[in-house]
Amino acid sequence: MATYFGIVHDYEKFVKAFQTLSGLDLNYYKENQMKRRINNFMATHGYKENYTDFLKALDRDSVLYDSFFKHLTINVTQFFRDVKLWDVYREKIIPQLLAGKTSLKIWSAGCSGGQEAHTMAIIMAEYFPNVRYSILGTDIDINVLQQARSGIYEERDFASTPRPLFEKYFTPVDKKFQIKDSVRKNVSFHEQNLLTDRFDRGFDIIACRNVVIYFTDEAKDVLYQKFTDSLNTGGILFTGSTEHLFGKNHLGLKSISSFFYQKQ
Ligand SMILES: C[S@@+](CC[C@H](N)C(=O)[O-])C[C@H]1O[C@@H](n2cnc3c(N)ncnc32)[C@H](O)[C@@H]1O
Repeated sequence: MATYFGIVHDYEKFVKAFQTLSGLDLNYYKENQMKRRINNFMATHGYKENYTDFLKALDRDSVLYDSFFKHLTINVTQFFRDVKLWDVYREKIIPQLLAGKTSLKIWSAGCSGGQEAHTMAIIMAEYFPNVRYSILGTDIDINVLQQARSGIYEERDFASTPRPLFEKYFTPVDKKFQIKDSVRKNVSFHEQNLLTDRFDRGFDIIACRNVVIYFTDEAKDVLYQKFTDSLNTGGILFTGSTEHLFGKNHLGLKSISSFFYQKQ
């Protein structure tokens, strides 16, 4: 059934109407960046600045809606993104965590199509084959989660993947590549809005990378507090390579290497 929006002139009303339609509250995202992304999308699809017609179109056209949602939430990713940080992760972070325990509970928050969560699983399989672990991947976008669950990827997803690992852990399927079941079996994916949903607890590692770029500072503060609460003492928060936690000492997270923070 069509949703009635009335005439929507301004951004604030658009945000309200879009929340009714999608459940996503854009008030948590930086207004200027969001406006720019929305206006770009509307211009490309021939809506100029008429929010009313655009909202009506989103309501009746699921393809347009999916593509807009994807455009807003930006799910660009790849395996072993920022490959040098994954060397630190494997050589320093995991061994340090394993000095005190025998199994790991890991979360890729804002996992997109699962490339980050599966990178973590490949590292466990290749370098820590005797360690028990579980990996959770969560995202707000159900379309990317479908890909994550299928475990099927395209050549371009592997630009940073070491060749031997690519050959060992993926099987060609048509012109794509599927991650092997031996790696997938410890990874699960769930829909979750990081800004409003409850978090599980007891994690040893939380990776939240390239997700918060468009969140407001207030939203980021709440989110980092929730992540800290969800980590075990000694657990690690792994952030994106533009995301520093300067001035966040109250969280009790100590930087132990660039973009890796340990809960004290
Ligand atoms: C650029 S991708 C990052 C993927 C991966 N972490 C990486 O660094 O390559 C950002 C992901 O965050 C998700 N995202 C954006 N807002 C979110 C929210 N409020 N809750 C959960 N996921 C969100 C998007 O759907 C998108 O898949």
